[in-house]
Amino acid sequence: MAIKEFDTLVVGELNVDLILNKLEAFPAIGKEVLAKEMRLALGSSSAIFANNLSILGSKVSFVGKVGYDSYSALISSSLKKAGVHTDNIIKSVGEYTGITVAYNFDNDRMMVTYPGAMETFKISDISEQVLASARHMHLSSVFLQPGLKPDIVTLFKKAKSLGLTTSFDPQWDPAEKWDIDLKALLPFVDVFLPNALEVMNFTSTGSLSASIEKIKGFSNIVVVKDGTNGAHMWDKSKITTKPAKLNSNVVDCIGAGDSFNAGFIHSFLKHKPLEECLETATVTGAVNTTAAGGTGAFQSIDMVKRIAKTLFDYNL
Ligand SMILES: Nc1ncnc2c1ncn2[C@@H]1O[C@H](COP(=O)(O)OP(=O)(O)O)[C@@H](O)[C@H]1O
Ligand SMILES: [Mg+2]
Repeated sequence: MAIKEFDTLVVGELNVDLILNKLEAFPAIGKEVLAKEMRLALGSSSAIFANNLSILGSKVSFVGKVGYDSYSALISSSLKKAGVHTDNIIKSVGEYTGITVAYNFDNDRMMVTYPGAMETFKISDISEQVLASARHMHLSSVFLQPGLKPDIVTLFKKAKSLGLTTSFDPQWDPAEKWDIDLKALLPFVDVFLPNALEVMNFTSTGSLSASIEKIKGFSNIVVVKDGTNGAHMWDKSKITTKPAKLNSNVVDCIGAGDSFNAGFIHSFLKHKPLEECLETATVTGAVNTTAAGGTGAFQSIDMVKRIAKTLFDYNL
């Protein structure tokens, strides 16, 4: 088989985060309040995953859709800085890049999201050539991409027929309908990566074991993220649980699940035993919580390794 140019193709949503901190008062209709701190940064679950997977040492390419505006330039330059190949990100004239505006006041937070171009991203935007350029395909945040959602079974089937391995993190469904046919999809997903609440919603169950019972007949590897409880993995024969590498000094948990995914897939693509993939994932998830945002602790591989060793006694 021809040597692949990339280890992983990330298919997903892209947006920027505008974060306003230290407000003098909580925003109110008809009034104006001042913020003492502001940050404009790369947002979106898929981008955090791609960024951190690349920092870990995988060759990563991204396909998604943004507008033709200055936010798209910020997204491309941030991803490029982490080593992600951005040539397949579509810049759509006439559409705007998605943005989330977060207002933080004491421990309260208000968020407003404009999804923008990610909503019209569709399967025909992903060429066979782009798919075939990678060994692995990862899709995230399907409920934020209504143009792609009806065709995800077709997409995963196509990836498998081209010889790729695949992974899928559904993320939260803002409409809470959970209307994806897992029975049709999961046979083509090598690693399914929901969190505990998501998999229980998909299966209309109240426990993890009941959720696994419902999907195990048509799943491959299922890895369920469970916050400070760590994570659970079903690998066709047994369930393995790994406790979280507890961080007693959490800065924030933004992107912890995406960094967990990055650690798992990085090890998976190096053909490490599944239990080692799971353990590495709990470490990269924990590393994520030691700095602000989803990429703060993933500025370089040296930084990630140093945090993993000094705080969690783990050699990455
Ligand atoms: N406070 C924490 N300390 C250490 N590790 C954590 C912490 N919170 C999350 N993690 C790790 O990150 C993983 C993903 O976090 P989780 O919140 O479950 O995912 P998601 O963001 O998708 O909901 C967890 O399984 C755990 O291993
Ligand atoms: Mg998640």
